[in-house]
Amino acid sequence: MSHDLIQNTMQELKGRSTPTESREFPMTDADFQRLSQLAHNYTGIVLGAHKRDMVYGRLARRIRALGLRDFNAYCDLLDTPGSGELSGFINSITTNLTSFFRERHHFDFLRDRALPEVKQRNAHSKKLRIWSAGCSTGEEPYSLSITVNEVMDTQRWDCKILATDLDSNVLSHGSNGVYDIQRIETVDMAQRQRWFFKDASGETVKVKPAIQKTISFKRLNLIEDWPMKGPFDIIFCRNVVIYFNKDTQRQLFDRFADILVDGGYLCIGHSETLNRVTDRFKALGHTIYQKI
Ligand SMILES: C[S@@+](CC[C@H](N)C(=O)[O-])C[C@H]1O[C@@H](n2cnc3c(N)ncnc32)[C@H](O)[C@@H]1O
Repeated sequence: MSHDLIQNTMQELKGRSTPTESREFPMTDADFQRLSQLAHNYTGIVLGAHKRDMVYGRLARRIRALGLRDFNAYCDLLDTPGSGELSGFINSITTNLTSFFRERHHFDFLRDRALPEVKQRNAHSKKLRIWSAGCSTGEEPYSLSITVNEVMDTQRWDCKILATDLDSNVLSHGSNGVYDIQRIETVDMAQRQRWFFKDASGETVKVKPAIQKTISFKRLNLIEDWPMKGPFDIIFCRNVVIYFNKDTQRQLFDRFADILVDGGYLCIGHSETLNRVTDRFKALGHTIYQKI
C-alpha cells in the first residue's frame, strides 16, 4: 500500500465517528453551523455538510480531553475570549496528508528548469527564495531543500526556504525533522543515505543539518496578513486551497502573484487549478504556473 494511501486511511480514521445513536456527545445542526462558521472565519477552510462526521470524530477528542458535556459547551468555550482553545480547534480540523517528494514532477521541474533559471537571473545577488505555504509536517520543504542543495552552490548562494502552516503541531514536527523510517521510502536510496541519519534502533531518521539549515518553519495563516515582503522566486502551495472556496482562492492567488518575482513559479496540488480563478499566471502544465 502506498504511503499516501496509508496516510489517507489514517486521516479517515482520525475523522471516523460512531453511529449517531451511540455517540458520546450530542452535536446539533446549530452546533455544526457554528463550528463551520468559525473554521471559515479563522482559516478559510470550508466544512460542508459531508464533513460533519469528520468534524465530530476530530472534535469529540477535544471535548473529552476538556471534560465538557457536549458540542454546545465546546462552541461556547471557543467563543470565550482568552479560552486558548482556538489552536486546539484549528489543529483538529486541518488535514495534514503529505509525503516526501509528493508529486515528484514538481521537484524535477525545479531541478531541470526553475533553479537553473534562477541561477542565471539572480547571478548578481546570488539569492534564492522559496516558500512552502501549507508545509504540514515538513516533508515538502525538506524535499525542496534536498533539491536546492543538489542543484545550487549553497556555499556561495544565499538559499532560503520559508515553510509555513497554520497548525502548530505539524510545524513542531517539521522543525524537529525526525520521521518514521517508512516515511522516507519515497526518497531515492542515494538521497536517503546522503541527507538523513538513521537512529540506533533503525526505526526513525533525522534530517541532516545541511538540509535543515536552509529552512525556517513559521506559523502563518494564509488568509491573514503576511509579515514577509518577498519577493519569492518559487512558491509551493499544494493541496491547501482544495479546502477553500473560490473567493478565498482568488484572493490568495492574487497575493501570491504580488509576492512572486516576474516570471516566478507557483506549484499547486494535483486536484487544484487556477483556471477561472485568476489570470495572473500562465499554465505550463502539470499544475505548474508562471507569473505573467
Ligand atoms: C494536505 S496538507 C498539504 C501539505 C503539503 N503542501 C503537500 O502537498 O504535501 C494542507 C496543509 O495546509 C494547512 N492549512 C490549511 N489552511 C491553512 C491556512 N489558512 N493557512 C495556512 N495553512 C493552512 C493545513 O494545516 C495542512 O497542514
